[in-house]
Amino acid sequence: MKVLGLSFGFHDAAAALLIDGKIVAAGQEERFTRIKHDADFPRRAVEFCLRQAGLAIGDIDRIVYYENALKKFDRIVWASTVREQQKANGSLVGKARTLWKAATKASEVPPYLKSVTHSWFKLAKFDAVARICDELAVPRDKVTFVDHHDSHLAAAFYTSPFDHAAIVTMDGVGEYETAVIAVGRGAAIERKLAISLPHSIGLFYSAFTAFLGFEVNEGEYKVMGMAAFGEPRHYDEVRKLVTLRDDGGFEIEQSCFEFLTPETLPYTDEFLRRFGEPRQPEAEFAVQRSDLPDELTDSEAEAILKSSRHYADLAASVQLCTEELVLHVAAKASAIAGTRNVCLAGGVALNSLANGRLIRECGYNLFVHPAAGDAGNAIGAAASFYHRTAKQPRMQGFASPYLGSPLDPADAAAAIAASGFDVVTTHASDEALVEHVAEVLAGGAVIGWVQGQAEWGPRALGARSILADATNPAMKRIVNERVKFRELFRPFAPAVTAEAASQYFDFEPNLAAGAPEYYMLAVHPVRAEKKSIIPAITHADGSARVQIVTAASNPTFHALLRAFERRKGVPILMNTSFNLRGEPMVDSPRDAIRTFSVSGIDYLVLGRTVVSSRVEL
Ligand SMILES: [Fe+2]
Repeated sequence: MKVLGLSFGFHDAAAALLIDGKIVAAGQEERFTRIKHDADFPRRAVEFCLRQAGLAIGDIDRIVYYENALKKFDRIVWASTVREQQKANGSLVGKARTLWKAATKASEVPPYLKSVTHSWFKLAKFDAVARICDELAVPRDKVTFVDHHDSHLAAAFYTSPFDHAAIVTMDGVGEYETAVIAVGRGAAIERKLAISLPHSIGLFYSAFTAFLGFEVNEGEYKVMGMAAFGEPRHYDEVRKLVTLRDDGGFEIEQSCFEFLTPETLPYTDEFLRRFGEPRQPEAEFAVQRSDLPDELTDSEAEAILKSSRHYADLAASVQLCTEELVLHVAAKASAIAGTRNVCLAGGVALNSLANGRLIRECGYNLFVHPAAGDAGNAIGAAASFYHRTAKQPRMQGFASPYLGSPLDPADAAAAIAASGFDVVTTHASDEALVEHVAEVLAGGAVIGWVQGQAEWGPRALGARSILADATNPAMKRIVNERVKFRELFRPFAPAVTAEAASQYFDFEPNLAAGAPEYYMLAVHPVRAEKKSIIPAITHADGSARVQIVTAASNPTFHALLRAFERRKGVPILMNTSFNLRGEPMVDSPRDAIRTFSVSGIDYLVLGRTVVSSRVEL
């Protein structure tokens, strides 16, 4: 049975192909179109999946959309109606349902609904099935859909290595639901608890993300990064907003938030009364005087340092409350399921600080779907249909996160030839390649590293990575100045051989397939005595978002780490995604050459070919 899963319409459009229970290909549209978080119909991702399998669209048995579009439209109309009523009389909810029914029966759409429904009518978003039929020229009976959190549940459990597990999904919002606890056994998923709007931990975190001056659905990582510079001094004030229920659920106090109409600011005047002025986007951030330009006066510098501390403290407080909530929900899910196997998906599952605590403090066998956000629902939708509708036997778990575009040697050669860059050499073997690359890395070079199939999910895992020497204290600044141009508070992550991981980081790696560290989805402390050895990847609070690599999970990358260890004594490289700021990760050799040409990367490695940014005479 061939099932194509699709996610599109809101953010992170993607396609994934499941054939007889095996994930054959999965790709995110942004990698092909070069538009970050591209939400448009994933035409290129579909083409990629079909090409990988050597199939035509007519060969596909069923195409599955990742959510119930009409139910989501219902929610948006309902939420806007509630909001309008709140504005009118200052009270909340009450007659919302009745109002909504009245609104939808009206011969004309009320003015307050026009703006929120415009794109829905224009793009016919409430009939995603029709859109798919049009785009792919397939009959309607070949297309179906599953609920948003059913997609997340399936992505979390069916791709995990577990036969029996607790499943927790948490995100901003799907149709109405924002979090679900379920139990997975074999091919069955049984829901136990659902949390719906207006209670949403994803929207709670995003509201603070917006308040801290970052883009929602993009800047959540920056909140995590900034948290490391602060102390949770506002914990009590933030914690008051969250009620943890005994049944594993939670409630968010609504007076501070605007969760119902996300196109407006997600927080209220009451929020501002409690937490003060929002941070301006791109506002200067510094934790010590030396981070700031000399020409600033002392009072100007002090003002920046003071406000930076305040916002970092707030980020730390929000992060701590979020971790407590995640641990609370996971503990209940684990108790209900009667197992310490826990699977996560939904955008909140990308909170790698919370994941680290679930592993270290709670001792769970954790699986996090690598593309835990809505892109992953392309796989989730296909998997949910495959098991719950088609009643097929349990599919295979994730064999590898390298499910994206393969590196085509002919494409690479053509892109290099057209670029005018000098080929330093093309190695005859991977052994020779890694010795050469390790040598230049040890000499201080920054490397663009493109190997094999691209990664599934937001993290670069050694297929489309920028690599550098983790032992060099200046390397964070060098990579930032040459290519990443990131804010000071964003850390760089390490890749480490799995066998050496516990010598440098304070956790015991679970080498079973599917451990979150294979996908760089958990933060762990750097061992105190090692911090000074690997300063480039040690964050302000002494932590690191670790990727473990084995000879089985990525043989060439593992060999490179070992070759680097022979030169510098540590099997650790700085590993950051190969992209310019604000762009998606590079996918094709052409993308890599283009990024290489406008950045200060020293060498580009495409398969076994090493290209230099300098003209070699
Ligand atoms: Fe979601």
